[in-house]
Amino acid sequence: MRSPRSVETADVKGKRVLVRADLNVPLKVGEVADDTRIRAALPTLQWLLDHGASEVVVASHLGRPKTADDRERLSIAPVADRLRSLLPDGRIRLLENTRFDPGETSNESGFARELAEGMDFYVNDAFGSAHRAHCSTEGVAHLLPAYAGLLMLEELEHLGRLLGEVEHPFVIVAGGAKVDDKLAVLENLGGRADRVLIGGKMAEQLREHNQLSFPVELPVDVIAASAFAEDAEARVVTVDAVPAGWFGLDIGPATAEAFGAILRGARTIFWNGPMGVFEWSRFAAGTRAVAEAVAAADAYSVVGGGDSVRAIQELGLADRVSWVSTGGGASLELLEGRDLPGVAAIPEG
Ligand code: 3PG
Ligand code: MG
Repeated sequence: MRSPRSVETADVKGKRVLVRADLNVPLKVGEVADDTRIRAALPTLQWLLDHGASEVVVASHLGRPKTADDRERLSIAPVADRLRSLLPDGRIRLLENTRFDPGETSNESGFARELAEGMDFYVNDAFGSAHRAHCSTEGVAHLLPAYAGLLMLEELEHLGRLLGEVEHPFVIVAGGAKVDDKLAVLENLGGRADRVLIGGKMAEQLREHNQLSFPVELPVDVIAASAFAEDAEARVVTVDAVPAGWFGLDIGPATAEAFGAILRGARTIFWNGPMGVFEWSRFAAGTRAVAEAVAAADAYSVVGGGDSVRAIQELGLADRVSWVSTGGGASLELLEGRDLPGVAAIPEG
């Protein structure tokens, strides 16, 4: 795989550096609800400070602002506060949400020129946004000497490993709701895996019609609920016995056991997407069983995608897997075998 040149090869002493980070973090009533992505951006910022950069201007989008109300709700201010408390240094300045400028997503050159103005270098560390060809992720790379940040490089290395020679058994476990986003990844990666385990909503779709060119393993039982609600009446049923109008909100115990056993014997694992509605504790057991098995396996294990990452973090198991990706869509597109525009715009190292 193509590897972009590293920020570590840039002489930034006395220079002004524009850093694109992916600080698109979840917010809860105007506060940062999870600062994983902010923390993940720190090593590159620290590196620039340690190597004498005179000014470090950080740019990120936050959410998908559309209306005037969104401009208030999606101000980057709470992120700036958190960044300041994690890395207090007067040389760092965070720009307002890049998507407040309409030129950002259309990759219109005026906004790219504005971002580049007065800067000496551009460092893209926003792996999570590298699948977007926007001004701050792509356009500006053509206006300044461009480099990849440390997080970007680490993500590319870990995810890239899954695309090369891997140790077998290679097991993929996929779930979650955004089924169509994930089919292409499964198609590209799944043929090279020994087992492909499917849970969540994806299982329902593939049971009706397996669009993939290889067999997948689907749940044999589910936790069926009378409504899509946290307190709904629920019971364990075999997949062919879900009452009409009920919802499968988690994989059942027999499936969790079978998936767990397969995962524990794996040597390479990629996990994307929860097995059920794990935010509701009564439907979290399947996702928990998968997370525990991924953590217990003596395997090279990679977890990607917002929800499975959140699950593994909430369970306190993140340090027992090989790599937890900060990228959702970006990690999927990379594993689909596609070029990420934010990476392609950086000269090779
Ligand atoms: C993400 O959270 O997936 C990235 O920050 C990209 O955000 P986007 O999907 O709104 O482009
Ligand atoms: Mg996304």
